[in-house]
Amino acid sequence: MTSQVRGVQLARLLGQWHALPGRRRSPDYAALAGAVRGLLADGRLPLGVRLPAERELAQALRISRTTVSAAYRELRESGHLASRRGAGSWTMLPRTHRVASTGLWTPQDDHDMIDLGVAALAAPPELVPAARAAAEDLPRYLGGAGYHPTGIVELREAVAHAYTERGLPTSADQIMVTNGTQHALDLVLRLALAPGAGVLVESPSYPNALAALAARRARITTHGLAADTGWDADLLLGSLRQARPKLAYLIPDFQNPTGHLMPADLRERLVATAHAVGTDLVIDESFVDLPLDGTVVPPPAAVFDRHSRVVTIGGLSKPFWGGLRIGWVRASAPQVQRLAATRVGVDMASPVLDQLVAVHLLADAPAIVAARRAQLTTQRDALLGALAQRLPDWRVTVPRGGVTLWAELDGPISSALARAAEEVGVRLAPGPRFGLDGTLERFLRLPFTLPAADLIEAVGRIAAVRYDLDRGGRPRWREPAVIA
Ligand SMILES: Cc1ncc(COP(=O)(O)O)c(C=O)c1O
Repeated sequence: MTSQVRGVQLARLLGQWHALPGRRRSPDYAALAGAVRGLLADGRLPLGVRLPAERELAQALRISRTTVSAAYRELRESGHLASRRGAGSWTMLPRTHRVASTGLWTPQDDHDMIDLGVAALAAPPELVPAARAAAEDLPRYLGGAGYHPTGIVELREAVAHAYTERGLPTSADQIMVTNGTQHALDLVLRLALAPGAGVLVESPSYPNALAALAARRARITTHGLAADTGWDADLLLGSLRQARPKLAYLIPDFQNPTGHLMPADLRERLVATAHAVGTDLVIDESFVDLPLDGTVVPPPAAVFDRHSRVVTIGGLSKPFWGGLRIGWVRASAPQVQRLAATRVGVDMASPVLDQLVAVHLLADAPAIVAARRAQLTTQRDALLGALAQRLPDWRVTVPRGGVTLWAELDGPISSALARAAEEVGVRLAPGPRFGLDGTLERFLRLPFTLPAADLIEAVGRIAAVRYDLDRGGRPRWREPAVIA
């Protein structure tokens, strides 16, 4: 974990803080404090890190030390900073806030908030019957100790069967059940990655995956996805050949956040190139069950794998419910055994009852998932309609699956917009959360996992604050140095 942020690093994260929309209304120190709070609120600046000394930050930002002092004072008063004389200042959480599953800070009592920071659906109606049926099954397991580091056999069989049905023959001993896809990723990284090893990821990518990589001190390089077309085959394969990373983490199926779907021929070339350069592929299939509009999903990348280069991770959070915490790894049987050995030093095993619920849900998967897709199609179309009506300058590529769309805004305003939207009861995850270096200010991820009425209401509120940002004194935008 980062324990200290240097002046130049914080300056880079702060980006164009001095020129943010609406800025003319507030003095420099308040704008600086607001920008630091924004970084904290969207998780780009973690809790408990030491901020640079006032003089160092003043130099990095080329402003007076008095301004930094006043900003730090304001952050202390609002509960975002703790200082000890001679020791420095640390970021902290105001008492009235908590950390949400997204890593975003949220007020404790935010029941009226329309939360577009989370890209996951509420549970399907079939969940309670599945839980009841699982409770009936439980006695079969109560005679044993209940620890199954690779998962209970019937769930491993059900997951293996689903891969086989998709054209990827898989046996139960190639499956390890985990507590969600995030846990699967963390375990795979623990096993595969030495500190400082190179990893290639898409930009933008899933923020919690980036956090897991940061925790393993990975040296990250990125492949920038085009907003409208996604992966550029030559660039992606060229990056692999050039950087020869130890591992590449990719989300080929309705990528989070862009919604792109990687074509079959690129999957095949990707696996071949990864093998040629000695890169392991970690393929995150979180959204593979959620094609929309009759889109045909290409075969899993692992279909093209002859050398155990591909580790596939997935889970029930997106097609079923995040609260179940059921995910898995598909790998070779020996890799699964090594993962299980790693896992006993972390959390031992997954809860048996939850795994039984998962078995029942998977037995009913075709009907449940069909209903989810229909729901997502309606909600996506409502969101697209509201955007076209209220924010016609934003450019959106219609996603053919998954649960999010990636909007290109009419300026590098994503963080400022997220801060303003919070004031009117809409939580947003701004573009830079999905990147590494404070870029992506031109983009915003919008999930369509809430009911259509909420999405339409949220877009109305976002459009109103977008308009207000302009009225606060339209800043003359410089093009950002990098647009990813
Ligand atoms: C790409 C991706 N991977 C992993 C996860 C985490 O999923 P889980 O709830 O299964 O841990 C998410 C959740 O949004 C995701 O989008």
